[in-house]
Amino acid sequence: MIKKNDVKTGKIISIGNNGEGIIKDEDKVIFVPFALLGEVVEYKVLKVTSKCVFAKLLKVTEKSRDRVTPPCEVFCKCGGCQLQHVLYEKQLLLKKQSVENTLKKVAFIDNQVTDVVGCDNEFRYRNKLQLPISNVDDNLAVGFYAENSHRVVEIDDCLINADWTRGIIQSVKQYAKEFNLKGYDQFTRKGDLREITVREVKGNLIITLVINKKKVDGMQRFVDILRLYLPNKFSLFVNVNTTNSNVIYGDEFYKVYGDNEYYGEMLSIKFPMSVQSFMQVNDNICEKLYSHVEKTVNADCQSVVIDAYSGAGLMTSILAKNAKKAIGIEIIPQAVELSNKLAESNGLKSKIVNYTGKCEEILPKVLEKEVVNGERVTVVLDPPRKGCDLSVIQSLIENNIDNVIYVSCNPATLARDLGVLTGSLVVGNNGIVKNESDKRLYKVNSITLFDMFPQTKHVESVVCLTRRLDN
Ligand SMILES: C[S@@+](CC[C@H](N)C(=O)[O-])C[C@H]1O[C@@H](n2cnc3c(N)ncnc32)[C@H](O)[C@@H]1O
Repeated sequence: MIKKNDVKTGKIISIGNNGEGIIKDEDKVIFVPFALLGEVVEYKVLKVTSKCVFAKLLKVTEKSRDRVTPPCEVFCKCGGCQLQHVLYEKQLLLKKQSVENTLKKVAFIDNQVTDVVGCDNEFRYRNKLQLPISNVDDNLAVGFYAENSHRVVEIDDCLINADWTRGIIQSVKQYAKEFNLKGYDQFTRKGDLREITVREVKGNLIITLVINKKKVDGMQRFVDILRLYLPNKFSLFVNVNTTNSNVIYGDEFYKVYGDNEYYGEMLSIKFPMSVQSFMQVNDNICEKLYSHVEKTVNADCQSVVIDAYSGAGLMTSILAKNAKKAIGIEIIPQAVELSNKLAESNGLKSKIVNYTGKCEEILPKVLEKEVVNGERVTVVLDPPRKGCDLSVIQSLIENNIDNVIYVSCNPATLARDLGVLTGSLVVGNNGIVKNESDKRLYKVNSITLFDMFPQTKHVESVVCLTRRLDN
């Protein structure tokens, strides 16, 4: 019987959805993170449950040709990346297989992924940095949380973030040392500095220092230190967060130095980036993804496009350019405000209508109205990780919407929602179950993956569907 702390050897026979190697032994599935298909590995058993075993990789005795040396010193310790040990082309293949397997297993959809779009930069691709500040052995530590923990793993750089990361960390450390400031302790809730966050747009940085009190000393000196370490133009803001919660920002922001906002441009839409703006983390892939959605929607002056879960509205504005009208639906009022400003500053105000509220409440009403008016409607769905509420999917079916584009960052909820849309799943008394009848609703035309997060297990999918006319 497999027991905790056993050290064993085994061959990896498949790869799990989190990128981990899988071994089968004594009817148990053994998960070994950082092991690759076909490799023979030595592992230590960490935890045994009734069905599976979680293990730690000790040694690779037979290496895969797809294995590369991870360039980051804290890979395996910090929770950020899961796939740095895999050749980049193989990372894309693993993500493709994982999405295909999930769609098949959950929703009996056996379309092949049509295309996988890789990122031009495998490293240094992020435009957004978010680092907790804590203490390790009584010294201030800046880093990332270890996976499933609140222990900060100290870093002096992060290879998936931009190369200004090093300068930011050095600046925080020097500033804290000069003013004898402490990192935040989540248990005692004591300490001065909680987080440092950075947003980049066109090489300009918006830096926010999150503090655990109203004010800290030496802010002008911090600006001078940042100037020493950073070649970039930047603004510095302070955010006050004295709450006992895991949210990063408190309600109060104030500016210490620099401009309030900087401007970026994507697919002919000029957008402002301010301290609280929302933007996808990878500009290169974001542009490729939005461009793909724009081409797939193929709006013309006769069509109405509904952007459900529209965030700060960049995609709504992009889609409005060629459409008769674009409608955004978003739950966060501040994001809707930004979307309205974006429409106005890009001369699209007359073409965009934004609603604030839940898609499950607003979309059915909006669809009904547009359909009754005889409009040709295309719907783009870009929900959060938990996917769409069932009523959202049902309103598309009931209103006979011909074209649906589903953008997803979570293959599991994507599969569930696509199952209901295609009709391979139905809502039964005990929840969503396999549809035993032949009735099918939507057809999946293409599945395109975008590697928004190289070196990690995450992937964005864009699925294009059309309504079947034979039902
Ligand atoms: C994955 S983001 C998509 C943002 C946007 N489409 C983009 O490309 O930047 C999901 C958005 O849905 C919003 N949201 C979450 N639940 C919602 C709901 N029930 N109804 C409407 N919007 C919701 C979130 O606030 C977030 O802005």
